[in-house]
Amino acid sequence: MKFLVVLVLFALLKQAGATCFAATNVPFCNGCGGGCSSGNGCLCDIDHSLLPCIPTTCDLNTNECCLAEPGYYWDSSLSCCTDVLICNPKCTRDEECVDRSGDAVCECNYKMYKGNTTEDIIPTVDCKIDTMTTSVSRCLLIYLGYDYESFHLNNDSIDCIFHYPDIQNDQRVETNQVKAQAGWCGNDATIIDSKIYFKNTLHIQHLPSQLITKNPIAYNFSCGYNLTMQTSLQFALHPLLSTTVLTPVTGGGSFSVIMAAYKEPACSTPFVDGESVDVGTYIYLGILVKDTDGTNFTLRADECFATSINDSNYSPKVQLVSGGCAVDGEVDTAVLQNGEAMEAIIRIRSFQFQDSPNNLFIFCQVSLCEKSEACKQCLNGRSLNGNSAQLGLGFPLEDNTYSSNSGYHT
Ligand SMILES: *[C@@H]1O[C@H](CO)[C@@H](O)[C@H](O)[C@H]1NC(C)=O
Ligand SMILES: *[C@@H]1O[C@H](CO)[C@@H](O)[C@H](O)[C@H]1NC(C)=O
Ligand SMILES: *[C@@H]1O[C@H](CO)[C@@H](O)[C@H](O)[C@H]1NC(C)=O
Ligand SMILES: *[C@@H]1O[C@H](CO)[C@@H](O)[C@H](O)[C@H]1NC(C)=O
Ligand SMILES: *[C@@H]1O[C@H](CO)[C@@H](O)[C@H](O)[C@H]1NC(C)=O
Ligand SMILES: *[C@@H]1O[C@H](CO)[C@@H](O)[C@H](O)[C@H]1NC(C)=O
Repeated sequence: MKFLVVLVLFALLKQAGATCFAATNVPFCNGCGGGCSSGNGCLCDIDHSLLPCIPTTCDLNTNECCLAEPGYYWDSSLSCCTDVLICNPKCTRDEECVDRSGDAVCECNYKMYKGNTTEDIIPTVDCKIDTMTTSVSRCLLIYLGYDYESFHLNNDSIDCIFHYPDIQNDQRVETNQVKAQAGWCGNDATIIDSKIYFKNTLHIQHLPSQLITKNPIAYNFSCGYNLTMQTSLQFALHPLLSTTVLTPVTGGGSFSVIMAAYKEPACSTPFVDGESVDVGTYIYLGILVKDTDGTNFTLRADECFATSINDSNYSPKVQLVSGGCAVDGEVDTAVLQNGEAMEAIIRIRSFQFQDSPNNLFIFCQVSLCEKSEACKQCLNGRSLNGNSAQLGLGFPLEDNTYSSNSGYHT
């Protein structure tokens, strides 16, 4: 039986073409109580001096595991150090593992790009809700004489450089990240047919050389987004908004919540910071939970009220929403959507306080409502379990009732 096991083991080693380290000049870590750590390799403590050792298990999974014996590399499938050149982590499909003075390193395999021209440089574009990323093969760029360190955008300021190496499709790429936000680093933003498009240009310079035989690359890319309560805030330059974080006590992470003010019920034109509001116009308060489809919760505005200064404890105050429903009072308020989805919309007709007619502040107490609760109903004193926060917005008021009613200024 024992003979059989040895035979099988031998066959396995033979098949892999690799031989595990077997010499006796370096101790095995498991024999001397040693261990491996990043930056130090594998060491054991023999009479208070640390000596390199050879491991038979090594969580680092890099060639650092085999530093004790030059010319040996970590084979994670055999779980030992072998004399077969292995790159750890593995090279991508357009690279090859080569020996550079005993170190196993991944280098571009330019054979793969033979015959490729500048026209083959086609960055991939990935549109996420907050970011647009473009990626180009590093090896292809070097092969064609371009410098992946030179990536920049329309605005070439140092504050606008966000590129980093990545692996996509088993290929090493240089990726550039752009915020999906109007005005950010030269972004061009347009709205066409209720979609927002953000556009920028990825510029790539050639590597320094004596002869310049090619032009720098300028690749225009764009991402389109549906115009929503959330994306319209990315289109406005300085939208008026208030943010907080809600953490449901039942778990499931924490959620970023935003309250903004819009000019129409579709919530696609936000008020910008400092923009004055004519007394008597409608303000649509849009409250949303960012980047979630909300399978378990809905968003609910439990209370909303207005004051004339930026202090939610100040009085006089006017209650606008109570227990999730509009208060039937002097101020024209309507709850258009609440507790149904991850967005809530409340319409308020702007008004003035007698004591301080130039400002209006609106505060809302919001919470996540578990779908099993009666989230859409008017309900005072709902137990919020600490899962609640206040958001507030301030509006400078424009009182045009005088000028429109008097003949003095015309
Ligand atoms: C390189 O050129 C080949 C043949 O022209 C083409 O099939 C391949 O897609 C090109 N590779 C890249 C990365 O552009
Ligand atoms: C480029 O971006 C920087 C940093 O965001 C900004 O300070 C600068 O004004 C921008 N330049 C142009 C021309 O937009
Ligand atoms: C890229 O965009 C710029 C302006 O944003 C434009 O002038 C240029 O013609 C575009 N290039 C291509 C190839 O479409
Ligand atoms: C964008 O809007 C269209 C049409 O209203 C819809 O079919 C699509 O699912 C929306 N896309 C996203 C990402 O919400
Ligand atoms: C929804 O709730 C279930 C169980 O309560 C939980 O396992 C899941 O992670 C929750 N989903 C989200 C998106 O929070
Ligand atoms: C109101 O106060 C909050 C903090 O208490 C502050 O973040 C916000 O900018 C203030 N708003 C205005 C319009 O001054």
